[in-house]
Amino acid sequence: MKLLILNGPNLNRLGVRETPIYGTKSYEELVKMSKLWAQEHGFEADVRQSNHEGILIDLVQCVEMMGYHALLINPGAYAHYSYALADALRSVSVPKAEVHLSDIMNRENFRKISVTASACDKLITGCGFDGYRQAILCLAKMVREP
Ligand code: DQA
Repeated sequence: MKLLILNGPNLNRLGVRETPIYGTKSYEELVKMSKLWAQEHGFEADVRQSNHEGILIDLVQCVEMMGYHALLINPGAYAHYSYALADALRSVSVPKAEVHLSDIMNRENFRKISVTASACDKLITGCGFDGYRQAILCLAKMVREP
């Protein structure tokens, strides 16, 4: 089974940016852990990061064509206002999970809304790196038991 993990803007700055919120572990560690968890649940994972909305949309659009069985996305701040990314997510039918490291419901008001979450099958927030593990587990179940 193939899994695409997409990380949006500024996630490449993990370990450096706002460490009281996002922690001190680096983006590279997140990639390593995600690949490991994916493997444990029978996925071969490709992990991509982009700071550009259009690139994320292009990757989402191609998810089925590229043979992925599931998609995990942390859209970063695009979650709060990118209707274009939400539409792209709605256009593909593989199981999709949205993850946020921080608890977006208990931060600034503008973060309380995710316009992309309703286009996904599952939303996990506020669990740090472990949210990725939880999402991978859910996606594996969804792929196996559609
Ligand atoms: C984030 C939450 C977003 O509000 C923020 O813009 C990010 C990271 C998270 O993982 O907690 O870049 O998606």
